[in-house]
Amino acid sequence: MKTVRINAGRAYDVHIGAGLTDRAGKIAAGVMKPCRIAVITDTTVGPLYLERVKQSLEGAGFSVCPYAFPAGEQSKNMATLSDILEFLAESGITRSDALFALGGGVSGDITGFAAGVFLRGIKFIQMPTTLLAAVDSSVGGKTAVDLKAGKNLAGVFLQPEAVICDTDTLKTLPPETLSDGIAEAIKTGVLFDEELFSKFEGGDISESGKLPFIIERCVTHKGRVVEADEFDRGERQLLNLGHTIGHAIEKISDYGISHGHAVAAGMGIIARASQNMGIMDRGDVTRLESALSANGLPIDTKYAPSELARAALSDKKRKGSEITLVIPERIGRCRLMKINIDALQSIIEKGTGA
Ligand SMILES: NC(=O)c1ccc[n+]([C@@H]2O[C@H](COP(=O)([O-])OP(=O)(O)OC[C@H]3O[C@@H](n4cnc5c(N)ncnc54)[C@H](O)[C@@H]3O)[C@@H](O)[C@H]2O)c1
Ligand SMILES: [Zn+2]
Repeated sequence: MKTVRINAGRAYDVHIGAGLTDRAGKIAAGVMKPCRIAVITDTTVGPLYLERVKQSLEGAGFSVCPYAFPAGEQSKNMATLSDILEFLAESGITRSDALFALGGGVSGDITGFAAGVFLRGIKFIQMPTTLLAAVDSSVGGKTAVDLKAGKNLAGVFLQPEAVICDTDTLKTLPPETLSDGIAEAIKTGVLFDEELFSKFEGGDISESGKLPFIIERCVTHKGRVVEADEFDRGERQLLNLGHTIGHAIEKISDYGISHGHAVAAGMGIIARASQNMGIMDRGDVTRLESALSANGLPIDTKYAPSELARAALSDKKRKGSEITLVIPERIGRCRLMKINIDALQSIIEKGTGA
């Protein structure tokens, strides 16, 4: 087992390794006294892993109340949050009890939000079961639900007590869902770590035993950025590599194109734009495109630059006449670039039409 310590406002450990589901109880008992623990999961992950998690927690002295919501992003809303809060109240969960998020980023985001607001805040543990949740959403303390007006518009910052990542659970992921996580991991490589990036150059990461290394590195990098900028005021913006255009692609496709796939296309576009601005070498752009393709990810989009720019600028969280783009310089290094919003379309034009 590998352990990465995250020194956010409050420090916590991310445990990564095979077979950790059966040690979840022991790990939980290491960070909190045995109590009632509400395991919040979805209807796909529940049948796969809930029973073993429950047994493990009960074996360590916890009393488990399970709750499953319908799997999928469409559940990440105020209605599901409200149902979870009512369930917690009906189950008699008190301030000395805890929540346990079992699942992908949707379970993690909504359970974290519930933990942040139920009785004005109770403890929670994250057990990510998608690669995206393992390398990205379970670390950093951002929680959220979607509003009708846009994604992730309501939430709180709340760090978990611990993160338990059993790499065996990733074996049941559909290939498309695995690639969504790979896109975020490749992003981390392009941002900070050429060695991490190189693990994706041959494709086929799941068979090769590379996952624990990949997750450990991604968590370490994300942890470092979060430690420096817990509340997303500066350096954390680097994590948005590929995301300005990626979010636009998701939005135009009405979320038919998944987040990871959209971010992959966004990275391809911004890398070619960087090359055309004389920043990134053609060789590095080709390496990025090949790594994305080798892992079943797109490198471009069919949407027009004007449409992409319009969608990107309609982001509810954006303000003012400037936007900060993350521009890759080479594999392992990126920079933040403030541009006027009027320049966005022409930058996108430099990177589309591969
Ligand atoms: N909080 C953050 O910092 C942060 C960062 C990135 C993304 N996110 C959020 O994460 C969400 C996306 O995460 P996701 O892709 O994990 O979504 P998800 O939780 O919906 O999981 C994707 C699908 O995989 C299924 N699944 C999960 N684990 C499985 C397993 N082991 N085997 C088989 N099927 C499994 C789920 O039931 C679901 O159908 C988005 O809502 C996004 O906004 C949050
Ligand atoms: Zn992302």
